[in-house]
Order: sequence, then C-alpha cells, then structure tokens
Amino acid sequence: MAIEKIFVVGAGLMGSGIAQTAICNGYTVTLNDQRQEALERGKAGIVKMLKRDVEKGRMTEEECEAALARLSLDSSMNGAQNADLVIEAIYENLEAKQAVFKRLEEVCPASTIFASNTSSISLTALAAATKRPDRVVGMHFFSPVPKMRLCEVIFGLLTAQDVLEQIKEVGERMGKTLILSDDKPGFIVNRALLPMLNEACVIVGSNIGTVEDIDNGMKLGCNHPMGPLELADMVGLDILLNVMMVLDKEYGAKYHPSMILRKMVTAGFLGRKSGAGFYLYEDGKKMGVNPVLTQVHSLEEQH
Ligand SMILES: NC(=O)c1ccc[n+]([C@@H]2O[C@H](COP(=O)([O-])OP(=O)(O)OC[C@H]3O[C@@H](n4cnc5c(N)ncnc54)[C@H](O)[C@@H]3O)[C@@H](O)[C@H]2O)c1
Repeated sequence: MAIEKIFVVGAGLMGSGIAQTAICNGYTVTLNDQRQEALERGKAGIVKMLKRDVEKGRMTEEECEAALARLSLDSSMNGAQNADLVIEAIYENLEAKQAVFKRLEEVCPASTIFASNTSSISLTALAAATKRPDRVVGMHFFSPVPKMRLCEVIFGLLTAQDVLEQIKEVGERMGKTLILSDDKPGFIVNRALLPMLNEACVIVGSNIGTVEDIDNGMKLGCNHPMGPLELADMVGLDILLNVMMVLDKEYGAKYHPSMILRKMVTAGFLGRKSGAGFYLYEDGKKMGVNPVLTQVHSLEEQH
C-alpha cells in the first residue's frame, strides 16, 4: 500500500522542513508538537517559505494553496491514527524519542512505519521500545530540508526490506537522493564529515594555520562550498563536541574531540547561534575571526 499520510512529530527546524517538503510533493501531513506555540511558529515558517516560492516563480499560487490545504496541526497524538508513516523529529534524546514511539504504538495501526530523523541515536535502540522493530527505520534529512538533496536511510538490526523499499519511494517523491547506512554511530555523512571539522579545530589549536587560511585552504584547494570552521560554527560547536564524544567512545582516539573545541564550548562560544564561535556574527552576518583566537598574552605591560 502506497504511503499517502505522514505524521511528523516535532515542529522545530527539521520537523517543519520535513512537513513543508512532504506537502509540496503531494503528501497529506499532520504536524505534531507538544507545544502549541511551536506548532504555530512551524506553520508560519512554512507559509512564509511557500509564499516566497510563489513570489520567485518557483510555484504557482494554486500549488501553494493546495500544498497548504494538505497540512494540519495537532498538539495531541490523535492525528497519528491514520498515518501510513510517522517521521519523528523531536530533540536528540534516546528516552524522549522512545517515549514518543511507545505512545504512537497505542495510536497507530500495526502497519505504520516509524521513522526517526535522529543524527546519532541507534535505530535498533529506538526499535526496542516498540512492538514493531521491523517497521522502524532512520530517515536522516539535512538542514534546510527543502533545499538539501540528501536523505540518509538507516537500517536497524531488525528493519524489514519492504520498509526500506517504501522509504525509498517516499524519499524520492520528496525529491531526495537516498543513501543507505548501517546503524553505527555517525552513520555515513557525520562519520566522514565531523572528524574533518574536528581536525580543522586541531589545526587552529596547534597554531599551524589561521582560521581564515584553514577555511580558504579547504574552499579553494578542495572546492568545498564552506570552510570547515565556518561549517563547524553553523552546525554548532556544542553539537559537534557531543557527536565527537559519541564517536570517541565508540571508535576510540582517532575521534577524540580537539582541546580548542572543548575550550570554546566551555567558554560559551557555540557558533552562529550564540553570536560567536571561530568567527563573530551580527544579525547572522559573519564579522571576522573571534579575537580570542588571535590574542597574544604577556606578563609585560602592553601599550
Ligand atoms: N538541526 C539540524 O541541523 C539537524 C540535522 C539533521 C538531524 N537533526 C535531528 O533532528 C531532530 C530535531 O532537531 P531540530 O534541530 O529540528 O530540533 P528543534 O529543537 O528545532 O525542534 C524540536 C521540536 O520537538 C518538540 N518536541 C520535543 N519533545 C516533544 C514530544 N515529546 N512530542 C512532540 N514534540 C516534541 C519541541 O517542542 C521542538 O519544537 C534531532 O533528532 C536532531 O538530531 C537535526
């Protein structure tokens, strides 16, 4: 049976992006959040993005209205009753995600597929909280969801083959290219990317190169659209540190988080969202390298 109705849990950055992409590709979506204001903010964000698409000629007024008519909001879980697919996108916490799946177990038909947008939590562990471990799967979208072309699909130990096939169909209809990963910390993309960001931090911390030279090196020498330190600031230095700690615990010293990264987080420099990371930001605009990284200390009086 083809998937038509999707229930998205969590109306934050990722959940609303997933809901927007799904309604624009013909799916009927119920967006859920435990907080009414998050639901309203999520919907307002979707309306704003679609209106902009109409202004820019990327969709017609009629397509926009039709897409919005396919979206409903729900602050209880009752809207999951008829869902063919649930995509969970609440904050990154195993117990909280397991609790959501346990609650959905009481509401959804036995055939409903439970997908999670987790970046780092084991799908096998999430599946263990349900009575349908064969129907639990990872759908790891990237931010901003409507723009980024990838969806990483993760299979747990018990995920059934027909579930992977159905998820492939949904992902492709949402305009994404899918890649398949086993259920190991970091999956494919973060396992390859985050150690590179961490290594860029090691290079800064060892005074081998300046922040700007490292970013220019990777942009101009490797054709990366962003430098690793700008990207680390965008991801959030606290998020990068947390994932590196998970990888370190699982895979050992090769993934040990850099000392400068740990110090930056301790000092409250979390990247773009806090206004300062490797760079300083004002109104979301990059203003230059964070001066704490270039200051010279001395016991002598400075003039
Ligand atoms: N932010 C990213 O770039 C990114 C990228 C890929 C994957 N992810 C993953 O996506 C998930 C969501 O991340 P986000 O950045 O959108 O978070 P967010 O903080 O923007 O949104 C989370 C939302 O979930 C809601 N929520 C919390 N508990 C809930 C519950 N029990 N029931 C219903 N709603 C609940 C919150 O009210 C909030 O609105 C996380 O697992 C994260 O690791 C994030």
